Amino acid sequence: MTSGLSIAVDGPAAAGKSTVARLLAERLGYRYVDTGAMYRALTLKALECGVAPDDPPALEALARSTVIAVEAGLRTVMDGRDVSEAIRSPEVSRAVSLVAMAPGVRRRMVEAQRSLAAGGGVVMEGRDIGTVVLPLADRKFFLTASSRERAARRHRELQDRGYRVDLAALEAEMALRDRLDSEREADPLTPAGDAVQVDTTGKGIEQVVGELLDLCRPGDGRR
Ligand code: DC
Repeated sequence: MTSGLSIAVDGPAAAGKSTVARLLAERLGYRYVDTGAMYRALTLKALECGVAPDDPPALEALARSTVIAVEAGLRTVMDGRDVSEAIRSPEVSRAVSLVAMAPGVRRRMVEAQRSLAAGGGVVMEGRDIGTVVLPLADRKFFLTASSRERAARRHRELQDRGYRVDLAALEAEMALRDRLDSEREADPLTPAGDAVQVDTTGKGIEQVVGELLDLCRPGDGRR
C-alpha cells in the first residue's frame, strides 16, 4: 500500500509556486508544505530580536531556540504565535534571502522539512526541494515566469494585503533576491536535473495545476 507521492515544487519568487502547489495538494488530498514560510518566520524573529540577517552563527543559535510550525499550509506558527500575516511584510521579504544563506540555518530547516515529508503524500514548495530536501521525490517541478510578470503578481499580492509599494522598485528587489538565492553557496536555487520545467507566463492557475496533475498520474512521472 502506498501513502502517496512526494512532489517537489521549486522556482524563483512569485513564479506561482504557492498557489499552484496548494491547489495541487488539495486536488490530490496531500499535505502542502510551504518551506519559504519557515525561513520567513525565522527572519521575522531575527528582526524582532535584533539579530543581524547577515550573522550566520547568531542566526543558527536563534534557529535552535525557535519552534516553527507550518500548519496545513495555511498558518505559520512561531513559538506559539500565529505569524502568517507578519511573515509576508516587505521588511521580512527584504531580509529573508540573507537569513536563508546561513548554512547552519539551512541544515536545521532541511532536517525539519524532511521529517514533514516523511511517508509521502506531500507537495513541498521551495527553492531546493528537488535538489536537496527531497532528492528522491517522485515528481519534481520547477516553475518559472518572466520577471515582469512575477513582479506584477507580487505587487498585486502586496496591494491586496494593504501595502503600497512601487512596482519598479519591487521588480529590482525581486531580481536581487533571485540572484542571492541562485548564487549562494549552500543549496542554491537551481532546477534539479530531473525536474520538469514549467513556464507559467501568461497562463492561468487552473491551466498550470492541470498540467502538473496530468504529470502526477501513475506512469507519467520520471521515476
Ligand atoms: O518562497 P518565499 O518567497 O516565501 O521564500 C522566502 C525566501 O526563503 C526566499 O528568498 C529563499 C528562501 N528559501 C530557501 O532558501 N529555501 C527554500 N526551500 C524556501 C525558501
